[in-house]
Amino acid sequence: MLERKVIILATIVLGILIVSGAVFVQRSLTSDRVPAAATAEYGRQILRQTAAIIGPGQADPEMRYSGSHLACASCHINTGAEPGTLSLFQTSTRYPRFSGRDGREGDLRDRINGCMERSMNGRLLPRDSAEMIAMEAYILDLGNQYSAMGESSRLPDEPAAFKEPDRMADVEAGEIVYQARCELCHGKNGEGLAATVDINDGYLFPPLWGSDSYNNGAGMTRVLTAGRYIKARMPLGNTDLSDDESYDVSAYINSQSRPEKSGLENDYPDLTRKPVDSPYPPYADQFSREQHRLGPFAPIREYYDSLKEAQ
Ligand code: HEC
Ligand code: HEC
Repeated sequence: MLERKVIILATIVLGILIVSGAVFVQRSLTSDRVPAAATAEYGRQILRQTAAIIGPGQADPEMRYSGSHLACASCHINTGAEPGTLSLFQTSTRYPRFSGRDGREGDLRDRINGCMERSMNGRLLPRDSAEMIAMEAYILDLGNQYSAMGESSRLPDEPAAFKEPDRMADVEAGEIVYQARCELCHGKNGEGLAATVDINDGYLFPPLWGSDSYNNGAGMTRVLTAGRYIKARMPLGNTDLSDDESYDVSAYINSQSRPEKSGLENDYPDLTRKPVDSPYPPYADQFSREQHRLGPFAPIREYYDSLKEAQ
């Protein structure tokens, strides 16, 4: 009898040892920096928590690629999963394609790196990193979701598309719009509002200018690109700005200081492909830098059209 009790007790003790040993091994495995799986879900997390995963909030300095605390989702609203301006739903169908800015064909990873170097004021993410592959997988996944969506859920919930006013943008009028309609969230000095006391958690309201914003080579610095976005998406939850207000406030935020990217003079090797509202020189025309920054743009377009006709 006593012998049986000892065997049962020993079995129980052994069982406890095995289970706790397994738990210990599992804990020590997950607490190591296991290479992240490049899943679409990981990609979605990177678009939302960009600063923490591949930015200044990342503990491993070598993994800090983004140079600001913005998230991709600061501009690509709802991590791009919302139809309309800067949605990423149809992006996968657009690449590879020719980029006038780079002067060569680029794929989706090159395009993501375009936003990494400019919108995120950072550096190139290695093309074959788990993080790059995960973001690509997420965007491909969005494309599949879009194909499966019904016609009605594809419709963007946005005001009528921005129509460019035929005049120079008025920076002072833009300041008045800013104070009345933007300052509450984005701050008196465009500095935004951090989500928590720890800036590495990113922003509740992202900055629109200053040292932690997009740099001067980003698409958002173009007055027409930002005007289109602002008319469609801002003020968040209450998008009622006119074309004129969107145009002027876009010029106002883009007249403020922001990080500067070097080498911008090498963009658009064929300068005739440069967008009319690209705010930095050189240009293949005689219009002033001011006019490229603030318009009116119709005369610049007419000039390039006349060149094409003459050919
Ligand atoms: C400051 C705003 C901003 C941020 C932040 C930003 N982007 Fe963008 N992104 C843009 C703009 C503007 C465009 C260009 C739209 C156009 O061509 O008119 C763009 C274009 C893209 C495109 C191409 C879309 C298409 O359909 O052709 C991809 C992909 C993309 N961004 C990914 C990202 C990723 C990933 C991040 C984060 C690492 C990011 N972006 C951060 C503003 C931003
Ligand atoms: C109710 C708060 C709120 C107001 C008011 C508001 N925004 Fe925003 N804005 C946001 C949020 C939040 C985001 C980031 C997107 C997200 O998280 O969904 C954003 C993003 C942006 C972005 C892209 C991200 C960046 O950092 O550049 C621009 C540009 C912008 N807003 C401009 C404006 C302008 C111009 C106005 C005034 C006409 C305005 N916003 C008013 C909340 C607001």
